[in-house]
Amino acid sequence: MNQRIGIIGVGKLGSALGRLALDAGLDLSVADDPANPHVGLVVASILPGARFTDATDLLATSDIIILAVPQPVLATLPLDAAAGVLVDATNAWEATDGVRAGTGPTTPALLAAHPHLRLVKTFNQYAYADLLPDARPAGAPGRRAMAVAGDDQVAVGAVARLVDALGFDPVVVGMDAAELLEPSGPVFGRKLTAPDLVAVVTAHAPERLAGRPTPRRG
Ligand SMILES: NC(=O)c1ccc[n+]([C@@H]2O[C@H](COP(=O)([O-])OP(=O)(O)OC[C@H]3O[C@@H](n4cnc5c(N)ncnc54)[C@H](OP(=O)(O)O)[C@@H]3O)[C@@H](O)[C@H]2O)c1
Repeated sequence: MNQRIGIIGVGKLGSALGRLALDAGLDLSVADDPANPHVGLVVASILPGARFTDATDLLATSDIIILAVPQPVLATLPLDAAAGVLVDATNAWEATDGVRAGTGPTTPALLAAHPHLRLVKTFNQYAYADLLPDARPAGAPGRRAMAVAGDDQVAVGAVARLVDALGFDPVVVGMDAAELLEPSGPVFGRKLTAPDLVAVVTAHAPERLAGRPTPRRG
């Protein structure tokens, strides 16, 4: 795929996803906390080849933007400037986000506050430390799956292709199933193959898989 990928927040999750993106040969831009003057140097050492910029520029110039900041930071970002698809990878996880499961702003709530955004939820369900060890080429036996939640079919398809390019089988569900991916949900923190993930979603909400598009490879 030749889309421009942007990541806001190059901490534990953002840097692991950035490493996978660079390994896949993708065009990567990253932005981080503007209050941290040293982050450009850090980025140059851990993600050589990534373009370091600010959030406003990244939002305006990326086709897919992954939000990997502590959840309360979302409200401070100029999300309305996004030209591309936004991927909410955040959680209400007390240790990093300062908000307990079930109390933070969910992705559907974020979407309700910014209804014109092309918003997809994924990557939040997988521990950052497992991303690099578990990434596999398409078709590899036992390849792990990543649920991709959203209702904008074009946006979901683009993000599903990114998930595939980064080394995981995408399993597409509707935004109404995003809660299954949250820390209190049955998908969160589990290493599942695509058939097993489909079985988990089907057990909890069979209607949420019905009629979902199978993403094209590209
Ligand atoms: N860790 C995981 O395994 C994992 C897995 C899935 C999802 N998540 C979720 O992903 C999100 C990030 O988690 P994390 O573990 O990667 O946290 P983290 O290591 O603390 O990284 C967060 C990054 O966001 C940066 N940041 C803070 N304010 C910012 C701003 N205004 N603009 C741009 N960047 C800003 C931080 O920079 P400074 O440190 O310089 O402030 C830091 O580099 C959380 O919602 C978490 O629940 C985490």
